[in-house]
Amino acid sequence: MLYTARAPPCREELAAGRVRRPFMLLKKIVFGIPRRLRAFGIYAARWVRYWRWYPFYRIYYHCLDALARRHMLVLTPFNLRCYARGAEYHPEFDSIVKAKQFGMLHPEVLLLLRYFALGVRGAVFEIGAFTGSATVVLAKALKEAGGGPYFSAEAGGVKEHPILATNDIFADLERHVREHGVSDAVVLLNGRSHFPHIHQTIAAGTKSAGIGLLVVDADGRVQRDLEAYGPLLNDGCLLVVDDYLIEAAENNYKMGLVKPYLDGEVAAGRLQLFGVFGFSTWVGRYWEPVNGHTREGKSN
Ligand SMILES: C[S@@+](CC[C@H](N)C(=O)[O-])C[C@H]1O[C@@H](n2cnc3c(N)ncnc32)[C@H](O)[C@@H]1O
Repeated sequence: MLYTARAPPCREELAAGRVRRPFMLLKKIVFGIPRRLRAFGIYAARWVRYWRWYPFYRIYYHCLDALARRHMLVLTPFNLRCYARGAEYHPEFDSIVKAKQFGMLHPEVLLLLRYFALGVRGAVFEIGAFTGSATVVLAKALKEAGGGPYFSAEAGGVKEHPILATNDIFADLERHVREHGVSDAVVLLNGRSHFPHIHQTIAAGTKSAGIGLLVVDADGRVQRDLEAYGPLLNDGCLLVVDDYLIEAAENNYKMGLVKPYLDGEVAAGRLQLFGVFGFSTWVGRYWEPVNGHTREGKSN
């Protein structure tokens, strides 16, 4: 005898209720309970994991931020990795997440920027602010610790993006800075970093303090920016450069510029790498060449 499988009911039949599905309710109960238990288990495990580490991280952040406010930054790759990894436990994590909503850097990078800004000696200069996510975080931290001055250069224009699209980058940057109440903590400069008037403003503004923290997240031409602003950087200046490791298909032109240059400078001893954080952000510091030689392995 030939048996043929019955064709499964089509959507219209199901919708019209013409097909009876025996044991459907029973199946839902039998298979639904373990699913719910599993979901609850995952939720409970997360909760336990969070609260198990919470007190340790809270004390850790409290101590490190207090030291940073006294210009004592613990700049070792291991410490920075721990600092970034526990981001969700940081008391300021909510404000970091809010700032992330209009920016492109990873929250752990924003948290590290905040940490650097708390303890930096000298001026802060940001190239490529976009609509001000990192700008707001840096300006708040500088205000809190009484640091600065802080300059932020943004070329402006229009950005097409699935989530962060804007018709006027610089206007949005000004708005975000104003809305977060940090207009007095940052000087916004509309123009490209290599424009003469931007360079003159930075040179004049950082003459006495020098630059202690440089954040570059612009068009990938980090070599041009470091050569132009190198003479203004303090010895041991903290350096944060985005687009170090980006999927080739996504943004290979920036990575093609950033990675080889930074790797070459690290090999030459002019830069020291602390680590790569977030999506693809290089974090390290700059050492001035002395009498044609470079200093290596210096600690803070
Ligand atoms: C990737 S976005 C920066 C994202 C930003 N750091 C954040 O946290 O969201 C790059 C920005 O750099 C700006 N830009 C590109 N080249 C620049 C340059 N030479 N000087 C200043 N800004 C530049 C672009 O207009 C763009 O807004």
